[in-house]
Amino acid sequence: MEYVLTGTKTEARAGSYYNKIAAYYDLTFKLNGYGRSLNQYFDNHPLPISRGAKILDAGCGTGLLTLALMRAIHFPVNITALDLSATSISAARKAVAESPGRTRDVTFAEGNLLSLPFSDNSLDLVVTSGALEYVPLGEGMTEIARVIAPGGHLLHIPCRRASLTTTFLEILFRFKAHPRDEILSHTAQHFRMVHEYRFPIPQVIGWSKTAILAQKP
Ligand SMILES: C[S@@+](CC[C@H](N)C(=O)[O-])C[C@H]1O[C@@H](n2cnc3c(N)ncnc32)[C@H](O)[C@@H]1O
Repeated sequence: MEYVLTGTKTEARAGSYYNKIAAYYDLTFKLNGYGRSLNQYFDNHPLPISRGAKILDAGCGTGLLTLALMRAIHFPVNITALDLSATSISAARKAVAESPGRTRDVTFAEGNLLSLPFSDNSLDLVVTSGALEYVPLGEGMTEIARVIAPGGHLLHIPCRRASLTTTFLEILFRFKAHPRDEILSHTAQHFRMVHEYRFPIPQVIGWSKTAILAQKP
């Protein structure tokens, strides 16, 4: 059995893995306060978007980040939530349908973030959390940068390497966190850094996650 599920454009087995564990992932990340940490981050760092913005959640999973976006944005936008896993997308679709707010603005797509169904320079914001860990970082970043319009932003919420919690999550969810210096250098190849945020340690997410906001020149 292979313990790290690094995907390519043509073979990405993380999808079938998440088809089996989507409910378990969702429960784990609900219990650890991920949604509340995202709320607090968005309260303190309003997203750099305006009315009608085109947004992609790349590797949306069960929709926890999509839902946080919906709570944080108080004007009409178009969100696409894309994932490899059909089971995760069904869970995300149900969660969005049951949430108060702008369900009409979310479109779901089954797909691979290494081959995004968007034309060049077409999106205002891409958010991605815990999904680039399943692909070669340079390829994932290049594909995401391709679809973001000049002046648009990437909000990347990676797992921090060299954290015991991340090691635990890596084993549980079969990914490999990318080293921080590689994340920063790949980000710098396509984007200008806006900020790097450490979720505070009293929050469970603080042991494993950061948020990197970057702008495409
Ligand atoms: C750790 S979960 C994160 C889910 C969600 N972003 C969140 O913050 O809760 C990782 C998700 O990435 C998806 N994924 C992995 N590789 C992918 C790829 N190449 N393209 C699209 N989704 C991918 C998996 O199916 C899974 O749903």
